[in-house]
Amino acid sequence: MIKIAPSILAADFANLERDVRRAAAADYLHVDVMDGLFVPNISIGVPVVECVRKVTALPLDVHLMIDRPVRYAMRFCQAGADIVTVHVEADSAENIREALNIVHGQGKRAGVVLKPGTPAEAALPFLEVCDIVLVMTVEPGFGGQKFMADMMPKLRQLRSWIDRDNPACELEVDGGIDPVTCRTAIENGASVLVAGSSVYKADDISRRIQELRGQDGGPFAL
Ligand code: DX5
Ligand code: ZN
Repeated sequence: MIKIAPSILAADFANLERDVRRAAAADYLHVDVMDGLFVPNISIGVPVVECVRKVTALPLDVHLMIDRPVRYAMRFCQAGADIVTVHVEADSAENIREALNIVHGQGKRAGVVLKPGTPAEAALPFLEVCDIVLVMTVEPGFGGQKFMADMMPKLRQLRSWIDRDNPACELEVDGGIDPVTCRTAIENGASVLVAGSSVYKADDISRRIQELRGQDGGPFAL
C-alpha cells in the first residue's frame, strides 16, 4: 500500500494545528527543516516540531535540509520525530553514518536523501542501515516546483537495490507530486509519496490523499 506524507511546508502556518488535522487521512506528516545554508530557504525548527507532535498521532517524517545534520539529529528525535532523513550531500560519509546511528539510538527510523544531481550510488554505503531512502524530484528548498520525471531511472535503480539488499526499506519521493505524477513515481518503485501543494490546495484533502495513493476509483486508479 502506497503511503502519503503531506508536507506542512504548504500549510498555513498561522493555522498550523488546523492544517495538521486536515491531513489526518495520511500515513505520515512530512516536516521540511531548512537552515538557509544547505538550501536557500529557512523554514521549520525544533520548537515547531514539538508543537506539531502534540496535535497529531501521525508519524512525523522530518526531512533535514541542513548542513551537518549530525548536530541536530538528537534534538529532532527528542522533539517528537518518528523518521529523520539526512542529505548525503550535507556532510562526510562518516558523519552521515553517525547521524543515522543517533536516530536509531533514539529508537526512531532513519534514512538518507539524494538531491537531483546526486547519483543513486551515493545511497549504497548506507542502504543496509536505512529504514527509508528519499529521492528528491525537485531541487530542495521550495514547494510548488515541477516534478522531475528524469529522476525515474534513479528511483528504479534504488528500488532494485532495496529489493535485493534491504526489502523492508521504504522508498520515498518528494517534490511536484500530484494526481498525475504520483502514478509515474509509483510505477517506478516509490512506496511513500510526499506532497505539499497538491494536498493543501485541494478542496477535499482526504479525497486528494486517496487519489495520490492511486485508489480513488476514478480513471487514474491503479
Ligand atoms: C522541498 C521540500 C518538499 C516540498 C514539496 O524542498 O522537501 O517536501 O514541501 O512540495 P510540493 O509537493 O509542493 O512540491
Ligand atoms: Zn521534503
